[in-house]
Amino acid sequence: MIALMNALIRYATSSIGKKQIVGLTGLMLCGFLAGHLAGNFLLYKGEGVFNAYAQFLTSNPLLPYIELALLGVFMTHIGFALWVTWEDLLARPERYAVRRNAGGRTIGSSTMIYTGALTLAFLLFHVTVFKLSGEAEQHVRGLFGVVIDCFKSGAWVAFYAAALLGLGVHLSHGVQSAFQTFGVNHEKLTPGIKAAGLLFAAAMAVCFGMIPVLTKMGRIG
Ligand code: HEM
Repeated sequence: MIALMNALIRYATSSIGKKQIVGLTGLMLCGFLAGHLAGNFLLYKGEGVFNAYAQFLTSNPLLPYIELALLGVFMTHIGFALWVTWEDLLARPERYAVRRNAGGRTIGSSTMIYTGALTLAFLLFHVTVFKLSGEAEQHVRGLFGVVIDCFKSGAWVAFYAAALLGLGVHLSHGVQSAFQTFGVNHEKLTPGIKAAGLLFAAAMAVCFGMIPVLTKMGRIG
């Protein structure tokens, strides 16, 4: 047991281990994003369907454990990402074994910490307004009503759009970089992974972003 713990600590503190932990948690968060988006699409179906879905989620006895696990993944991603970025700064110009920007610097690769910070600010705001505020229980139209009211505000829609642009840029580099960190680097596979990563990033930004824009235009609600 102690030997296993030591091996885990050695892995998690090695330069490749830290990078792989950022990559794995980043991909897990991508899975969460896709699931979250599928739920958000139910807003198009109207108040009844969306609120029934919200009720289904909140009445699940496993929800607190799932939320705790998700929080753990976010905190691990952020903690290790900050650690890697910090060491990267200290180590310049010599880089560690896995080069972050192998293949050339892009806007995505050189702004990961900023787009990550913007995503974090957005997440904190998002969770406070939609969950911790408890407004959904008081609103006559439930969670659906809270979401629709939010997206009627131009300032909210602009902030949402800016944050999603940041998330899109984060993922435009993040997804392909995560695969590279796990050694998936092949002349035939890599172009496809890069294209799929870009497609995923654009799809997340556009599909999440369409909801506030269409609500502001009066098409949802
Ligand atoms: C839903 C939210 C998020 C998703 C889906 C996501 C996804 C990813 C992915 C896939 C990577 C690539 C990992 C690799 O290169 O192997 C990454 C890297 C990174 N993420 Fe995130 N991330 C999210 C939120 C955040 C937040 C809130 C921060 C806060 C600071 C952050 C900071 C970073 C940084 C700095 C890196 C690059 C680390 C390095 O130098 O390699 N991310 N992210």
